[in-house]
Amino acid sequence: MKYISLSAMAIAMAGMSLVPAEAHAARISSPSGTVELNAEVVDSIPVYSVTYKGKPVILPSKLGLELADGPDMMDGFCQTAVETGAFDETWHPVWGENSSIRNNYSELLLKLDQPRCYRKMNIRFRVYDDGIGFRYEFPQDGVLTYFIIKDEHSQFAMAGDHTAWWIAGDYDTQEYDYTESRLSEIRAKMPEAICSNASQTLFSPTGVQTSLQMKTDDGLYINIHEAALVDYSCMHLNYDDRNMVFESWLTPDAQGNKGHLQTPCHSPWRTVMVSDDARDILASNLILNLNDPCAYDDTSWIHPVKYVGVWWEMIAGPKEWSYTNAPSVRINNLDYTTVDCHGKHSANNDNVKKYIDFAAEHGFDQVLVEGWNIGWEDWFGHSKDYVFDFTTPYPDFDIAMLNEYAQSKGVKLMMHHETSGSVRNYERHMKDAYDLMNKYGYNSVKSGYVGNMIPRGEHHYGQWLNNHYLYAVTEAAKHHIMVNAHEAVRPTGLCRTYPNLIGNESARGTEYEAFAGNKPFHTTVLPFTRLQGGPMDYTPGIFEMDMKTVNPDGNGHVNSTLARQLALYVTMYSPLQMAADVPEVYNRYLDAFQFIKDVAVDWDKSLYLEAEPGRYIVAARKAKGKDDWFIGCTANEDGHESDLKLDFLDKDRKYEATIYADADDANYLTNPQAYKISKKKVSSKSNLKLKATPGGGYAISIKPID
Ligand code: NOJ
Ligand code: CA
Repeated sequence: MKYISLSAMAIAMAGMSLVPAEAHAARISSPSGTVELNAEVVDSIPVYSVTYKGKPVILPSKLGLELADGPDMMDGFCQTAVETGAFDETWHPVWGENSSIRNNYSELLLKLDQPRCYRKMNIRFRVYDDGIGFRYEFPQDGVLTYFIIKDEHSQFAMAGDHTAWWIAGDYDTQEYDYTESRLSEIRAKMPEAICSNASQTLFSPTGVQTSLQMKTDDGLYINIHEAALVDYSCMHLNYDDRNMVFESWLTPDAQGNKGHLQTPCHSPWRTVMVSDDARDILASNLILNLNDPCAYDDTSWIHPVKYVGVWWEMIAGPKEWSYTNAPSVRINNLDYTTVDCHGKHSANNDNVKKYIDFAAEHGFDQVLVEGWNIGWEDWFGHSKDYVFDFTTPYPDFDIAMLNEYAQSKGVKLMMHHETSGSVRNYERHMKDAYDLMNKYGYNSVKSGYVGNMIPRGEHHYGQWLNNHYLYAVTEAAKHHIMVNAHEAVRPTGLCRTYPNLIGNESARGTEYEAFAGNKPFHTTVLPFTRLQGGPMDYTPGIFEMDMKTVNPDGNGHVNSTLARQLALYVTMYSPLQMAADVPEVYNRYLDAFQFIKDVAVDWDKSLYLEAEPGRYIVAARKAKGKDDWFIGCTANEDGHESDLKLDFLDKDRKYEATIYADADDANYLTNPQAYKISKKKVSSKSNLKLKATPGGGYAISIKPID
């Protein structure tokens, strides 16, 4: 990066005699000039503002931090220099929505002194055509070395009472339903549990999580999130509804502190995406671009994965993870050869073989098996430090035989590590657990962090845990293992740097359909919010919507039509896609199942054809290295009508489209399994008029025929 020094204030060399300077506003524009950022020091406080095509996005907003062990970094600043630069590169992710990504931004570095403490702090801004990022940088200046953050006070002042799609603030879970409301209604619409909860997860009746999607009355789409969350705690947003200002609110540790840092260091990026077209928000690469390039030299072992699993029959019931009902006193103290197997254990040799056969027959890469290891008798709710050892199978799971059987059929088993929140215990066993995987030929693990954390008092989104999640990923890399972590912190684009992080959950996935049913608009919101930071293991593909038919005691309902379940493989981008339903159900709908078999999991190009948060999303993607295209549409309870131009197809080729659509009388509640499949010759000149019924969607595969 080449820097041009715009202004260097005449300051005393040691900085000690400095007094806060007058404001010296610095303005910088994105490469094509759509986004403008203003940064200055006003009344000794750093302030920034952002516009998009001249319209206000962020009104003048203060920046600063409060420290627990020293004078605050909130005011008393003077600006010592402003440096600007520009950057333009194209990079190629190991896997992704696009095989090449342009990273093109203007940069502004605001250098600050805080003379009364002899300290320095810099704020780095990057300005893209679709938004901005900024972070605090703490140089090693000989004065500030170790410090403890009491809180970060980054403000985001709103220019109006926007519509927002938000979930409640929480230090431990994002598994909430989204609410659509005006910003002024957040307080009134905050879930009762958050307002009345006196537990330590309570933080504010106007606190929300990122990524937060908003829309202004004059049609701007604004999204606030963070990028490259490393060695820092996760940011929430607290809304001051009198002044219309969001402020950062970091996750505390067990002592109530928000971060222990050592210079030289920096915060994660705080991001604001903006466009007047909702499709640009979905297509944005801003968060990936703000992350560091790939940290690994060899990535040949990292592959997208399509999988089935011994899973839904436990989630939806009536089967179980546990081999027995007998509670173990302590792991290994229970003699599994003598206890009663209660006959509900799913991860048994015969059942796993059935899934392997199904995967092999239909071309899936892997079979996830949960409940394979001892400890599930009392894994939850007792805050036990030592439940699992991650290496000892139940007596009816023959790890050697099953892996051999799978591999003889060209399939791999996927490992499962439920930590039950006991992360200390997981780290104790991690090396042995990864070694065991290497021994039997596993190359991917689904990990999970259900329950309260151990060490007790730590939160899922605190600095300590964030460091653990990354440790689990980088240690896995040493074993050539890919990681899909559930209940971990929400992603912030780290998969660019560590591409063996192929998935996360960090939101309500399909499993909630089995419990309560996600709101029908859920999948029209997630790509705007949760997916901004990285792929989600959403586990779509449920064809049997009525949970009572699966489990007489079940009362969930999958709030989607069957055609929309197919569409999710395209609209919910992920290099890791599960066909979550059970083989018996798929065998009843093999014509629709064909789409799941065909759909790609890695892409050369992704286009968003139609999009509106909370309403509908239509995505089109070209399979990597092929001329096959796949289109998906997910709609809310009002349904959606599309008029698609296929002008993205190769002009010189002819194609056949197979369209999996809702039947005319389909409805997510009353008639979810009604679909129709049709074939049509198409070319780049074709238009397709299609309809998604309430809670419905459609999926299309387009293959060349010449
Ligand atoms: C919650 C996860 O989201 C789910 O997928 C998993 O099966 C259970 N925890 C058990 O680990
Ligand atoms: Ca979960």
